[in-house]
Amino acid sequence: MHHFHYQKNELFCEEVPLAKIAAEVGTPCYVYSFATLERHFKVFDQALAGLPHLVCFAMKANSNLAILRTMVKLGGGIDIVSGGELFRALTAGADPRKIVFSGVGKSDEEMEYALRTKILQFNVESEEELFRLNEVSKRLGVVAPVSIRVNPNIDPKTHPYISTGLKKSKFGVDIRKSLALYQAGKKMTSIDLVGVSCHIGSQITQISPFLEAVDKLFELIKKLRANGINIRHLDLGGGLGIPYDRETPPAPARYGAALTKKLLPLGCRVLFEPGRVIVGNAGILLTKVLYQKQQGKKHFVIVDGAMNDLIRPALYGSFHQIWPIKKGVKRQQKVDVVGPVCESGDFFAEDRKLPVVASGDVLAVMSAGAYGFVMASNYNSRPRPAEVMVRGDQFFVIRHREEVKDLLKGEHVPKFLV
Ligand code: LLP
Repeated sequence: MHHFHYQKNELFCEEVPLAKIAAEVGTPCYVYSFATLERHFKVFDQALAGLPHLVCFAMKANSNLAILRTMVKLGGGIDIVSGGELFRALTAGADPRKIVFSGVGKSDEEMEYALRTKILQFNVESEEELFRLNEVSKRLGVVAPVSIRVNPNIDPKTHPYISTGLKKSKFGVDIRKSLALYQAGKKMTSIDLVGVSCHIGSQITQISPFLEAVDKLFELIKKLRANGINIRHLDLGGGLGIPYDRETPPAPARYGAALTKKLLPLGCRVLFEPGRVIVGNAGILLTKVLYQKQQGKKHFVIVDGAMNDLIRPALYGSFHQIWPIKKGVKRQQKVDVVGPVCESGDFFAEDRKLPVVASGDVLAVMSAGAYGFVMASNYNSRPRPAEVMVRGDQFFVIRHREEVKDLLKGEHVPKFLV
């Protein structure tokens, strides 16, 4: 459920016509609905009300300060994967005791920063990382709260680039080898083994892979406890999918109920790291039609947004619905919606039936709130788009459009070239 809807043929975000935002802020531009964010967070959180739990928003999906602040104000924790994300999370006012640090490659500096901040837990992904974290903690005279991310070898049945729980992936520690690593960790003086983590993939549209993972973790936790390792946290990662098109992922209530039933007897505090399910359908990308042309059998609609603004279609072949912000024209045409970047992969839609458009029309690329702006780049020296948050009948620019002069930040021409 989201708050982008038509009123008399005009597309609104909550009570604001998107035409107004396009006119005042320009395009391309991301627009997020506060009411949708709030609703998604609450629905997810309430679905787990029967469990001692903490919802840590996976900020890799969207790290704008206003989005993070929204999560923080709703009581959420944050899942981070870098020192940069830690900085953003703290700037947004996140409570360090609600911050989880995931990721396969934490540097010494990042470990130090997070240790000094006293975060809730490090999700450690390899033997070497555990040793290093112990060393860094010792040097600082602190003890690191650690959960080892295990790889349960489960097929989440999603896009290969976002499947992370298979044994061929770089993520986590093979679950069969994890007991030995916990035993090694038990002897380390600056490591406190608080939990077990896993994240099996993203855009998962069935419950069974999650339940399979839980069964495997359950067994592991029993073994760990029998070996005197007092596991208190179970981190199930993120991954719950959303409808982009016709997918029918389980509703958070069903996901929550199934997991609660299985997890309650474990007596752990359960951490979740949802990203997409919170923010994916809470955001869109507005883009304006520049030109059209017929080339062979193809009709191209060339828009001012491009793969540098939203790379998901180019990178994963992912589907995003495209809605005109003014409906009216009934006639439909099969088109490719493409951007100005010099790559054939620069498209938002291929062979898509859309109402006939004209130059100057504005289109909404739907479900772009997760892994949209955060994956934007300056490829082709294109300034990154603005971001706007709507609340009721008001809208707020939460990130200004980059200016061309920003593109040169940090660049220097060496003296010999002057
Ligand atoms: N926790 C960990 C350790 C993760 O690696 C991820 C996502 C999440 C949580 C959040 O997963 P979510 O709830 O959003 O599915 N750029 C890709 C998605 C990459 C996901 C990476 N990890 C895309 O646009 O589809």
